[in-house]
Amino acid sequence: MIDLHSHILPTVDDGARDLDETLAMCSMAAEDGCTAMVATPHLRHENWWNGDRRRLEKLWEQVRDRAKDRLEIFLGGEIAVNSQSCQEMELLPDCGLLPLAGSRYLLLELDVRGLGPDPEDLIHELSVAGWVPVLAHPERIPWLAGDLSYLLHLVAQGALLQITAMSLTGDLGRFALEASQRMLDAKIVHFVASDAHDSTFRRPGLSKAYQRVVIDQGEELARAIFFTNPSNVLANQPLHPTGAEGRASDAVTAGRPLHG
Ligand SMILES: [Fe+2]
Repeated sequence: MIDLHSHILPTVDDGARDLDETLAMCSMAAEDGCTAMVATPHLRHENWWNGDRRRLEKLWEQVRDRAKDRLEIFLGGEIAVNSQSCQEMELLPDCGLLPLAGSRYLLLELDVRGLGPDPEDLIHELSVAGWVPVLAHPERIPWLAGDLSYLLHLVAQGALLQITAMSLTGDLGRFALEASQRMLDAKIVHFVASDAHDSTFRRPGLSKAYQRVVIDQGEELARAIFFTNPSNVLANQPLHPTGAEGRASDAVTAGRPLHG
């Protein structure tokens, strides 16, 4: 399995506190069956700006080299969407924002209060410019999680969705569990990632969620969202269509409600 979202870089955000914890998290992920992980520190977040790209790259090189006998580590970022995002996105790839593993895929965190630019505009602008927006944990963003019609619309516009492994296993509460199940049922989930922050409560590990998806949705979908799709991101290749994109698009065109 490949984990596209983790806070394993030490001392840069609310993730790993030091290199020892980073390496412990890498071992946990590898023992759980992960072969590769993308370190995605918060970027442009109000508490963790992380504008010094060279600092992040140096830390990543250190972690990558120390963990190479356990699993592969790539560098990316979890980009907080704020009022400056549209201007910054126009300056990609030279504005300090890190795509996932040097690909055209960008992991975006929408504001929990719904502030910032219209997501539809942002997704449109990025798509036109050749970037692929991946929305981080929509099941944990209340105004988004409760609106399946809007999520289907965003997917039809070109957004991909990444949900959290611990949401799917019920470890983050009923709201996140039910929202992630609705998205899975609607076939609009493209990735499951750990969003691991530490070696205690928000640990790495995807296998429990993988088993859950196999039971609820079947092995084909589970393999796509835990193996094939993230592997295509690392290779900077397009994903195989799931069918949800066309279905959502048809519903938008026909002007009917978009319930999955
Ligand atoms: Fe995160």
